[in-house]
Amino acid sequence: MRTQVDLVAGSLRLLIESQHSSGAFPAAPRYPTYRFCWFRDASYVAHALSRFGEHDAAARFHRWAERIVLAQADAVEGAIRDPHGSPRRAAALRARYPLDGTGQDDDWPNFQLDGIATWLWTRLDHARRTDRRIEGEASRATALVARYLAALWDEPNFDAWEEAGDRRHPSTWGCTLAALEAYARATADASTDAAASALRDAVLRRGVRDGSFTKHEGASEVDANLLFLAVPQAVVPLEGALFQRTLGRIEAELVDGGLHRYRRDTFYGGGEWVVLTGLLGWCYARLGRRADARRCLDWMAAQADAVGNLPEQVPTHLYAPSMLPVWEERWGPVATPLLWSHAAYLILADELGERAG
Ligand code: BGC
Repeated sequence: MRTQVDLVAGSLRLLIESQHSSGAFPAAPRYPTYRFCWFRDASYVAHALSRFGEHDAAARFHRWAERIVLAQADAVEGAIRDPHGSPRRAAALRARYPLDGTGQDDDWPNFQLDGIATWLWTRLDHARRTDRRIEGEASRATALVARYLAALWDEPNFDAWEEAGDRRHPSTWGCTLAALEAYARATADASTDAAASALRDAVLRRGVRDGSFTKHEGASEVDANLLFLAVPQAVVPLEGALFQRTLGRIEAELVDGGLHRYRRDTFYGGGEWVVLTGLLGWCYARLGRRADARRCLDWMAAQADAVGNLPEQVPTHLYAPSMLPVWEERWGPVATPLLWSHAAYLILADELGERAG
């Protein structure tokens, strides 16, 4: 029988073997639609590797990201000068890139600020973990991303599920706030600090309805991506009433065995997500709810296939069963292995002290 320790070792191996020579990580190496590198997914992968001491692999990814950012510098400066311009112009940094970093623009919903914000946070965290100064290209790239986020955070953009590009999402604000606060702390930059204060105010006033954070500004439903307010960086007090009420709603409305994204989700029928169950466990670990965190880790491990691959989601307790065959027909079977699922598993295993033997 496969143990957690085996799955930790297998997950680390998979992440390392999947890294492209450029430093990029594909979201899912064997799933055609996900053969790109997303800032969101790959930042979690690099963070997981960093936690397990695989600093060189993490550093190679960060250099890839820095090169992408600096290659788009003119377009990013254009977006900063004209933050209320067209969304296409605002998407100077895209959600995902081909692994070799090249490529034409495509019609993907590319304007997604949470991914590049998560990259900035993980880049700064990597420097802290390895006790290295951010210099040269790294310094220029992180400064540019911080200015980009500070200028654009209040523009509508696609959420972490690449949906609702005409709205503003407290979860995306959470990722952006974590990045801006970390950057302001690391560099003592006053303008980033001012943007972070304005954003904090927006999260707490405009991101809330009836005592809980919401999926979109002005909506009343919750989304599991609100866990981005708690991890990788808690940007609101986790023991406070607002976050506790939000967490209570996520648990009551979206958890079966694992965690769903949101009630109206129809993607592959709206199943239970391995990544999200990992983020929930991580949040529990932060709250000292270790038995709950352990339950999440066990549930994740139970979703691995015969060779230890974790999928993006599992088709259990589906919200929209009739949509499962529609997506299977469109894009093929659920993405497996999904590197972000393995990264989330590793991070939670690390939180709970499970290490490879
Ligand atoms: C998810 C994104 C993810 C991407 C690649 C999409 O289906 O909604 O959050 O970044 O897949 O894994």
